[in-house]
Amino acid sequence: MRKQIVAGNWKMNNDLSQTEALITDLKAQEKTTNAEVMVAPTAVNLSQACNSVKGSNIEVIAQNMHFAENGAYTGEISADMLKSIGVNTVILGHSERREYFNETDEMLAKKVDAALAKGMRVIFCFGEELADRKAGNEETVVESQIKNALFHLEAAAFQNIVLAYEPVWAIGTGETASPEQAQDMHAFIRKTLADTYGTEVADNMSILYGGSVKPANAEEIFSKPDVDGGLIGGASLKAEDFFAIVNAF
Ligand code: PGA
Repeated sequence: MRKQIVAGNWKMNNDLSQTEALITDLKAQEKTTNAEVMVAPTAVNLSQACNSVKGSNIEVIAQNMHFAENGAYTGEISADMLKSIGVNTVILGHSERREYFNETDEMLAKKVDAALAKGMRVIFCFGEELADRKAGNEETVVESQIKNALFHLEAAAFQNIVLAYEPVWAIGTGETASPEQAQDMHAFIRKTLADTYGTEVADNMSILYGGSVKPANAEEIFSKPDVDGGLIGGASLKAEDFFAIVNAF
């Protein structure tokens, strides 16, 4: 059975006191749910956040990491560093990392390998830009992003991967893919996986949708058979909205 997951990507928001305040609010809003609930604060607050979530079922995850084990990479963070503070899941390949920090498929393949080698779980993000969709190329783009970064892996590695389809034109824009557009792409992703790795890997893969998911649209998106949850940006910064989305399952 694949897991339902709702992950909040806080991006470069919330200083230490805001991080603590939001986690306090999240703990107060938390209800029993089948979904795994995760939040990704900024790297400097991860350690404190790991302490603050204790007593809840919220997992603290990272927004990024480097592929090297250690060494002369000023400003970067390794898998071991994350693990040493209790962070075992990392988001990789977010479109903002690709766009503003020039992360390529090749670099992301190395990051995925580094995280998996350390026993971490990866939430791997990808998605087409508006021009791709307008040109009808969205499936080709998504297929190549997934294949270039992940298809060197053995089937067993996919147990520690979660996919997050995030059409770039829907991120932070208030424009969401329609539930049908999300479903069509998620079904295509699952088929792409099945064609190479077989139906077991494909059927067990959690595929999240991201891009302007809000309390008002979450239920319809999550009701689609191939949508297993969401990666939430803006709406994850308010505990009430975030848990309204979690509870949309
Ligand atoms: P958004 O961000 O919900 O603010 O559109 C989603 C994301 O970037 O993961």
